[in-house]
Amino acid sequence: MTDTATAPKGPRRSLSGIKSTGTPHLGNYLGMIRPAIALQDTHEAFYFVADYHALTTERDPAAMRRATYEITATFLACGLDPARAAFFRQSDVPEVTELSWLLSCVITMGELERAHAFKARKAEGTEGTALHGLFAYPVLMAADIIIYDSHVVPVGKDQVQHVEMARDMAKRFNHIFGETFVLPEAAVQEQVMTIPGIDGRKMSKSYDNGVDIFLSKKKLKQRIMQIVTDSTPLEAPKDPATCNVVALYKYFATPEQVAAMEASYREGGYGYGHAKLALFEALDAHLAPMRERYEALMADVDALEAVLQAGAAKARRTAREVLGRARERVGYPRHAFPVPGE
Ligand code: TRP
Repeated sequence: MTDTATAPKGPRRSLSGIKSTGTPHLGNYLGMIRPAIALQDTHEAFYFVADYHALTTERDPAAMRRATYEITATFLACGLDPARAAFFRQSDVPEVTELSWLLSCVITMGELERAHAFKARKAEGTEGTALHGLFAYPVLMAADIIIYDSHVVPVGKDQVQHVEMARDMAKRFNHIFGETFVLPEAAVQEQVMTIPGIDGRKMSKSYDNGVDIFLSKKKLKQRIMQIVTDSTPLEAPKDPATCNVVALYKYFATPEQVAAMEASYREGGYGYGHAKLALFEALDAHLAPMRERYEALMADVDALEAVLQAGAAKARRTAREVLGRARERVGYPRHAFPVPGE
């Protein structure tokens, strides 16, 4: 069986989603946003704001709306080209919720109980108060992926399990009902496995240790100065291998700059303050042009909405095609209802 057994032949498709909870940080940027955007050169790219998924935690509608536009502006500022790549809101393609149900009927409770987020709740003994939306999260995510005949899914390491579950659901459905879905594969940046936050733990919204991508220059500097280091005095030699500042510097400086910083660490007479300043400068040089574009984009929400609507129209055509194929396989009519403008 090949990955394209049933899908129409065409360019390979890359798909990913990012939750609209809070502002994207450098971990999101390096782990997912930048690699996903790079794939628009070689793949047909479909990327979306996962606002259905966000509803498992986000209870403030104004924050939901704001985060949706922030993420859209972030992708555009970082180089997403809406003429080539579709960028849309998950909830503008409600067909995914229907496919999610079909997939619910091929995956077991036992498999879903092994998904990281639910398993963590079980370990805590709080699974009884976990939302059904949390339990079913991997099913909706599988529907997101499968409904666009996606081949590659650029994601951070923490999402790999979910992509594997999506592949299993596609396989299971194909096995029961006949070849229907493309089998997707995760694409993880091996060299960007875990981006440290300012406290050295994995950069994560839940640890509040992130550096947001588009902080103002002043706030960015303040945040970088907060990076936790040990208390080795300025004069003493330091170990670059265990320093959070060096770890982040590696992603934004040239190899020569990194080598120079490492040499200064080993020599001594070079303080963490110097290193933080160098990191701030490298970061600011990288981010400033994008930050400017971001601010201009955020000033025109109607234009952002137009990008989302155009993306949704394109995504929805594919979604209806694939969902229709799945509906037919299980014994429903291909189209249940007409869609305006179709
Ligand atoms: N679960 C992903 C996250 O938390 C977001 C997401 C939703 C996603 N649907 C997806 C990612 C489909 C890739 C593909 O980051």
